[in-house]
Amino acid sequence: MAATGDTTGAKTTSEGWSSRSAFILAAIGAAVGLGNIWRFPTLAGESGGGAFVIFYVGCVFLLGLPLVLSEIIVGRVGQTDAVGSIKRVAAKSGVAPGWSIFGAIGACAAFLILSFYSVVAGWVLYYVGVMGVDFAEALAAGDPFRGALAGESREMIQGRMAGLFASPSLMLGMHLVFMGATFFIVARGVHGGIEKAATWLMPGFFALLVGITIYGAFAGEMGQALAFLFTPDWSKLTPPVMNAALGQALFSLSLGVAALITYGSYIKEGSGLGPTAAMIATADTCVALLAGLMIFPIVFAVGLDPAAGPTLVFQSLPFAFQTMPGGALIGLLFFVLILVAAITSSISLLEVPTAWGIGERRWSRVRSASIFGGGAFLIGIACLLGYNVWSDVRPLGFWPIFAETDILDTVDGFTGKIMLPVVALLTAIFIGWKADRKLVGATAGLSPAMLGVWRFLVAWLCPIAVALILLFGLFPGLLGA
Ligand code: PHE
Repeated sequence: MAATGDTTGAKTTSEGWSSRSAFILAAIGAAVGLGNIWRFPTLAGESGGGAFVIFYVGCVFLLGLPLVLSEIIVGRVGQTDAVGSIKRVAAKSGVAPGWSIFGAIGACAAFLILSFYSVVAGWVLYYVGVMGVDFAEALAAGDPFRGALAGESREMIQGRMAGLFASPSLMLGMHLVFMGATFFIVARGVHGGIEKAATWLMPGFFALLVGITIYGAFAGEMGQALAFLFTPDWSKLTPPVMNAALGQALFSLSLGVAALITYGSYIKEGSGLGPTAAMIATADTCVALLAGLMIFPIVFAVGLDPAAGPTLVFQSLPFAFQTMPGGALIGLLFFVLILVAAITSSISLLEVPTAWGIGERRWSRVRSASIFGGGAFLIGIACLLGYNVWSDVRPLGFWPIFAETDILDTVDGFTGKIMLPVVALLTAIFIGWKADRKLVGATAGLSPAMLGVWRFLVAWLCPIAVALILLFGLFPGLLGA
């Protein structure tokens, strides 16, 4: 599939998935991450549960899924990095190559998200270490089924996180190990690295997730969790909650960072991508819901506050594991589970800019991955210093919505509230209005009726709804909240 006759100049990738199911696993691995197991329960808890959850699921299928399919189609047709792929679709559709700007913004967003994602994943790694040592002690004491962190007071357990945050060197070490592992996998390529990691790790991930959920059903308050997650109190569905749910849907599906364009470009044959996209969105949503069903029964069983915020998973759950039978083992497995989910996502974040370097700059894979992995590592250092020596720094402090925001949350907020929705908006307009209908329709491989539904969602609902998120994200005052 040489790029003869086209003027995009990008190098067509020779790399590819070994099968459709390899692509599906890798894409699910990219989608399922800290967003599902940490951010989703945090937001659902803070936003009051049921109404948020139901609205979120609506966002996933009405807005997210159509965009998942759009991104994969661009990659499948383009067969190169995100910028080059959009240019190719544009050339085939007779529209300006300048549309590739959303690929470039997406690649920048992926690079920026990677920087703080690796820092947060480093916290997870730290807890894997803490729980690992604890479980080893339990084994040594001949009591493998004891609760976690035996004999420690609530303050001691919860103080661990404060101790971690106070130590730049500890956080730096964890960040380095996680970023190094991400680099190592990406440097080995699509087939030998990313695909292998996904096919090895994802089945283990699902086994752990189901196992811990079943444990929670017996040991925890499943009934209370079900009621909390699925009984809607519609008065809680305020505009800021809707805004958060929409943003979470984009983040969780890995939309707006050109990740699915990049992964789609490694699909070598076949069309019929509609069902594939549906599987990815469904799996991602099921994992988020299962994560809720795994975490909230435990939270309620020990009387914790579901609205505890971002520390819910890190601070509250270790305490919960202390009071539960088998907690030492389950706690360790729980953090291993999050770590696995995080690494299959971080490799997709690094792959996006890496593919850009290979396709547009003709760098070698190792060089490109080192440049972007190294760069994200450095920005990550600034993020983690924001928890201690630079805790007063407010990078965008002049901007009211970021006035109180530390370095890590600024990178998170700027990408999540601004860059992702902008890219999603441009993707919807490009596919819905600009790209050649026949080309896109043939690659989607949907029945005529479904194709009509999809086109309507991409051309109308997505641009309008995403424009609204962007507007209310940037100008919260408009909501009067
Ligand atoms: N979807 C991932 C998660 O839920 C995060 C991510 C965003 C990964 C964008 C890749 C690209 O954790």
